[in-house]
Amino acid sequence: MKKQLIALSLLVALGGYAQKKKATKTTLKPKSEFVTDLMSKMTLDEKIGQLNLPTSGDITTGQSSSWDIAKKIEEGKVGGLFNIKTVAKIRDVQKIAVEKSRLKIPMIFGMDVIHGYETVFPIPLGLSCSWDLKAIEQSARIAAQEATADGINWTFSPMVDISRDARWGRFSEGSGEDPFLGSRIAEAMVRGYQGKDYSGNNSLMACVKHFALYGAAEAGRDYNTTDMSRIRMYNEYFPPYKAAVDAGAGSVMVSFNEIDGIPATGNKWLLTDVLRKQWGFKGFVVTDFTGIPEMIEHGMGDLQTVSALALKAGVEMDMVGEGFLGTLKKSLDEGKVTMAEIDNACRLILEAKYDLGLFHDPYKYCDVNRAKTEIFTKTNRDIARRIASESMVLLKNDKQTLPLKKSGTIALIGPLADAKENMGGTWSVAGRLADNISLLAGMKSVAGNGAKIVYAKGSNLDYDAKFEENATMFGKTLHRDNRSHEELLKEALAVANQADVIVAAIGESAELSGESSSRTSIEIPQAQKDLLEALVKTGKPVVVVLFNGRPLALVDEEKSATAILDVWFSGSESGYAIADVLFGAVNPSGKLTSTFPRSIGQIPIFYNAKNTGRPIANKEGKFEKFRSNYIDERNEPLFPFGFGLSYTKFAYSNLKISSAKAGMNDKFSISVEVANTGSFDGAEVVQLYMRDLVGSVTRPVRELKGFEKIFLKKGEKKTVTFNLSAEDLKFYNSDLNFVAEPGAFEFYVGTNSNADMKVNFELTK
Ligand code: BGC
Repeated sequence: MKKQLIALSLLVALGGYAQKKKATKTTLKPKSEFVTDLMSKMTLDEKIGQLNLPTSGDITTGQSSSWDIAKKIEEGKVGGLFNIKTVAKIRDVQKIAVEKSRLKIPMIFGMDVIHGYETVFPIPLGLSCSWDLKAIEQSARIAAQEATADGINWTFSPMVDISRDARWGRFSEGSGEDPFLGSRIAEAMVRGYQGKDYSGNNSLMACVKHFALYGAAEAGRDYNTTDMSRIRMYNEYFPPYKAAVDAGAGSVMVSFNEIDGIPATGNKWLLTDVLRKQWGFKGFVVTDFTGIPEMIEHGMGDLQTVSALALKAGVEMDMVGEGFLGTLKKSLDEGKVTMAEIDNACRLILEAKYDLGLFHDPYKYCDVNRAKTEIFTKTNRDIARRIASESMVLLKNDKQTLPLKKSGTIALIGPLADAKENMGGTWSVAGRLADNISLLAGMKSVAGNGAKIVYAKGSNLDYDAKFEENATMFGKTLHRDNRSHEELLKEALAVANQADVIVAAIGESAELSGESSSRTSIEIPQAQKDLLEALVKTGKPVVVVLFNGRPLALVDEEKSATAILDVWFSGSESGYAIADVLFGAVNPSGKLTSTFPRSIGQIPIFYNAKNTGRPIANKEGKFEKFRSNYIDERNEPLFPFGFGLSYTKFAYSNLKISSAKAGMNDKFSISVEVANTGSFDGAEVVQLYMRDLVGSVTRPVRELKGFEKIFLKKGEKKTVTFNLSAEDLKFYNSDLNFVAEPGAFEFYVGTNSNADMKVNFELTK
């Protein structure tokens, strides 16, 4: 009865398209015709209005705010809105558009649904370490289901920027340093968000970002300049964006940085030549937050000039900047933009709304029942717990300290131990901070009556209170303790002394990485380093549970701790998931997707580097004069790309190639046997790397070309086969043609990027 009443009042409430919907649901004209008809009725102001994307002011990330929005919607000056939460609010806003505006054009509603909605999954960097594409796709699917149940139909994700500089805080938001893995993850995320199509009401439009090269900001300082050769762009930085576009991402967000001296937001080569002409992108392009007016600061001219520049370059939607709204009409009058350019932008946005089904039903994503029953469900949280445990990377495990026994006394110490507000990590805007599971709660629950867990905070995030304030924004407090460091330490040592083993929950706070969280040091803050040193001095085994949103330099910790489990920020269910791994219910299987440097001076450091003409010969880290190395540090990282331990052991054998020679149209395969020879069941990520020995341009010393995550019971053995062809050997040459060149190759298979089992191969003409 209640349901019927709602349905009835809904019908009464709907204007314009919604009313027509009943009669014409199946008779809406085909997209192109429909949009042409609609545009023939639109005034210039209404067309420009479609290009305008304000933020609701609900959750803001920048400085700009606007909430005279209701009036603007009525006047047809708003195409969409973002960061507004709940079906009720979204329905109200949509109602203004479809009842009060002249042409009743529905709006799209966006949000930064980055790694989950209310059910929060690991930060993207953590998620990538699962190397589990099904799990990653599933996390995006659940995010889509929850967000659409709450009225959202557009997410500003996936973020696919390749990152090689750990000083950059937004390292946390992407999938690490590798273009191949990054591309596979980009596709999986787009599939998860968008589903097969938008015919149901539980898929949303993806927005691949930040196009392009944002991760290459100089000195790791956010929003900074990028500058690189085109050959590097095409081979190393572009592939994940292209993969997301090829997977059908409906929209693309432009990055803040400049490229070749022109801000991406006004860069016609990037947005038109590459994205549209070379890659065939058919969706629409949105700026990042105030991207258009920021071009004034970049030194590209006044608001009118930069707005025209953006439109002509290939931007369709202006996020928050209101440069289009305020200046395009004038620019048209003065002949600085054309009607065709405005029409084209308007058309692409209307087409996206058509694809999403909003002209059929503007309230398609506003189902209050879904909002009540489909968000933050037990099922979703259980899946989040499982996926979170898959993202964790075991970096060290001396004397098989892990898994912990569920007996005796365990001292849990550190500022991240009882910090539920921080567990979701950065960019979890819809997350429910108060409902996150802290490590303390998780360990107590999983240990049950078996082990006694005693707790002390031990230290603050750092000695500097201001630093902590800047790193714990958006409600992600660590509840700074006003006692002195000595007092905190004294309490911690008293607690530690009661225990058989110490678990130190240390690292970064959630907002110490993320947007505008660049660091000049990538070590654990000093107060926590001092805490760890004191805990190690007790002589008891110390397991570091490391929280971080970027690779950290951990030379000291790697020496002193007995075990290190990197848990990133693993979402709503963090505490349970970490405890599952610590107590062995889950055997860790995560592998690093970024190289962990020994020191900040090695940055940028990544596995798929070039050999140079003077590579070092020794592997022991000895300095060699007139070779490419450092006097004061070795070349190798602390932990290589692809690295991660398990509680069990895997033995690789019998590496084979189906044929040592193959032609351009042939297929060939590489296979290897992997056996679980340890005493736990477990999963292993089998990795295939390639080296192209001779090329018309220099080629990396290793490139990931395939991977497969397999599960092996104790004593079990499986054969993993990688199927390849010349297509997999292609790269962009100096003319930027994508080619495979005949010649000699080496393939390596193993457990990380240092894999040393090798087969040789020759590609013939
Ligand atoms: C970020 C984007 C985000 C946007 C909207 C910007 O500051 O760079 O990643 O999607 O805000 O919230």
